[in-house]
Amino acid sequence: PIKQETWLVDGELKTWTGKYTDVFSPISSTDDYQPTRLGSIPAMGEAEGLEAVNSAAKAYNKGQGLWPTMKVADRIKCMEKFTAKMKATREEVVKLLMWEIGKSLGDSQKEFDRTIDYIYNTIEEYKKMDREGARFQKSEGVHAMVRRGPLGVVLCLGPYNYPINETFSLLIPALIMGNTVILKPPKFGVLALSPILPAFAESFPPGAINIIYGRGREVAGPIVQTGKVDVLALIGNSTSARALQDQHPHKNRLRMIFSLEAKNPAIVLPDADLDLAIEECITGTLSFNGQRCTALKIVYVHEAVADEFNRRFSEKVDAMKFGNPWEPGVKLTPLPEPDKPDYIQGLIDDAKRHGAKILNAKGGEHYDNYIFPAVMYPVNKEMRMYHEEQFGPVIPVIPFKDINEPLDDMAESNYGQQVSLFGKDVNTLAPLIDALTNLVCRVNLNSSCQRGPDVFPFTGRKDSAAGTLSIYDGLRSFSIRTFVAAKEN
Ligand code: G3H
Repeated sequence: PIKQETWLVDGELKTWTGKYTDVFSPISSTDDYQPTRLGSIPAMGEAEGLEAVNSAAKAYNKGQGLWPTMKVADRIKCMEKFTAKMKATREEVVKLLMWEIGKSLGDSQKEFDRTIDYIYNTIEEYKKMDREGARFQKSEGVHAMVRRGPLGVVLCLGPYNYPINETFSLLIPALIMGNTVILKPPKFGVLALSPILPAFAESFPPGAINIIYGRGREVAGPIVQTGKVDVLALIGNSTSARALQDQHPHKNRLRMIFSLEAKNPAIVLPDADLDLAIEECITGTLSFNGQRCTALKIVYVHEAVADEFNRRFSEKVDAMKFGNPWEPGVKLTPLPEPDKPDYIQGLIDDAKRHGAKILNAKGGEHYDNYIFPAVMYPVNKEMRMYHEEQFGPVIPVIPFKDINEPLDDMAESNYGQQVSLFGKDVNTLAPLIDALTNLVCRVNLNSSCQRGPDVFPFTGRKDSAAGTLSIYDGLRSFSIRTFVAAKEN
């Protein structure tokens, strides 16, 4: 077991002498299922939250601290030093991702490598932005040099499905722009950060980055209540995001960068290439067991092809292999949230009560802390799974006659992240793409929804997001434009 004995505050890896909370793996190491105890983390509270926010505020020092005033080239050196050290932790982090959140070996490696690429690409984009900003502009006799400056103290909260990659998609641009940061890792996937902790301590000046442990309610709440946080950066659910936002004493001054729930639909038109649509819908609905904000969470199929789609799609789902994350060919793995199988079962039961059927033979079978994906048909608005972001292995399928049916549903939805559109006829697709672009932020043509490549803007409409992330946008989201102006004499 791994005991996370230190936390990072004021540049020091301090040893924790208080209580600890156990961390469990969803992977059973015995035949009679018992969750495996992986280790423990400090059970911190208000006092440590305050210590961390005070450390970040002191390091920021109202914009006059060492980190926010450091030259761009020097901040880059710190970031490069950190990345070189982080690279050496790959094997350990990958192993922890598999054990803690049940992510497959390939996806765990991808998560780590994508993060390293993200940092290097952010550094390059930062250099480019700085070069471009340093050019003088002139208008109406005013010469100006426009730059980007930090915003202040950032509280960073990442999600369990990408505890490293998505957390870093907030942390890295926040840090490199000269903000000081308090990072609280997610409940599941928390130990995956442990091997990287020393690299932070050795690479950045005291207080630039602070890492604390504990439950959000007990640690993040008190931090926000101090009013010392300028940016709340969170990837997770809107209930926690808005609850935290509301605790800020001057919430109108607080900047929010959120990536929240989504209910991305797939729309399969009558002329779609069904092989392709089925393949992409499998990836879209079930990669990492559907535990992705970008997952396809509802599938609309035109009634002309619904029978064939349903039959072939269900067969493919049943052919998917369930097992431990390191086993070759395994796509479906145990779920880290202990209550998730019951929640999914609840959605299935509710849909059945309202007239839907499970189409695939294995749908809903339980394996300890796993439930085999169920393809549910026909789903309608009476059912909870139509409205709720399932974030797990259940696939609601809805037949449609007229394209306005899915379009109207999307217009009424509280969410607006992405859509996948499957079809061939350009004359049908072109106006549809225009309509869909005004409902969501990314239209995926004949492909499933996803966040990457990371150069593209990642955001959403309505309750799905606040602010935009990407290699380009992250730097801009975590900074503000400032300029020096002089009049021509
Ligand atoms: O949970 C939401 C993630 O941003 C999904 O990212 O599309 O790269 O899996 P992904």
